[in-house]
Amino acid sequence: MFDTMTMTKAVGALCAALLIYLLGGWAAKGLFNVDNNGEDHVSGYRVEVPDGDMAEVEAEPEIPFEEIYASADAGSGERLWRQCSACHSLNAGQNGLGPSLAGVVGADVGAIDGFGYSDALAGLGGVWEPERLSGFLENPRGFARGTAMSFGGINDVEDRANLIAYLASQ
Ligand code: HEC
Repeated sequence: MFDTMTMTKAVGALCAALLIYLLGGWAAKGLFNVDNNGEDHVSGYRVEVPDGDMAEVEAEPEIPFEEIYASADAGSGERLWRQCSACHSLNAGQNGLGPSLAGVVGADVGAIDGFGYSDALAGLGGVWEPERLSGFLENPRGFARGTAMSFGGINDVEDRANLIAYLASQ
């Protein structure tokens, strides 16, 4: 019934159908891969978002302390002084648990006559520049390891600047 020509045409048609099927599968696979890549890019972008946030967080402490101190508000600092007044006086020569802080901004470290400083503070040397005071008040025990001042510290740099401005105004 079938001659050779018909057989050849039939086999040829079958091969062509197979080829189209294979090519179609290939194309679909290609599209699928493209979709996957698209998703990878989306998740890559999501990873970058916290990076951006961290850059902002890191940028904050880079404002120089002098700049924050320059616009400090002694009036707001006065309220913060209450935390200190349990141990410190602002009257010269009046020591309590801590030494008098009269004129402490710009004064020599550990130089109040008649106060028994710890070795940590006595050995520190130098002058209480505003920026140094800020470092001490942020974390007294971290700044002067072994200090007798039992005070946790003030985290907010603006609070520290305001308090130091208040001390300087006294
Ligand atoms: C619990 C008591 C206590 C509190 C509260 C306290 N201090 Fe002190 N402070 C001390 C003592 C004690 C010393 C001496 C530390 C030493 O010898 O190690 C000291 C030392 C200091 C010195 C160094 C003075 C110098 O003559 O060199 C400064 C400045 C100071 N305090 C500021 C403050 C400020 C500002 C506050 C409030 C934010 C504060 N302190 C809160 C007890 C206290």
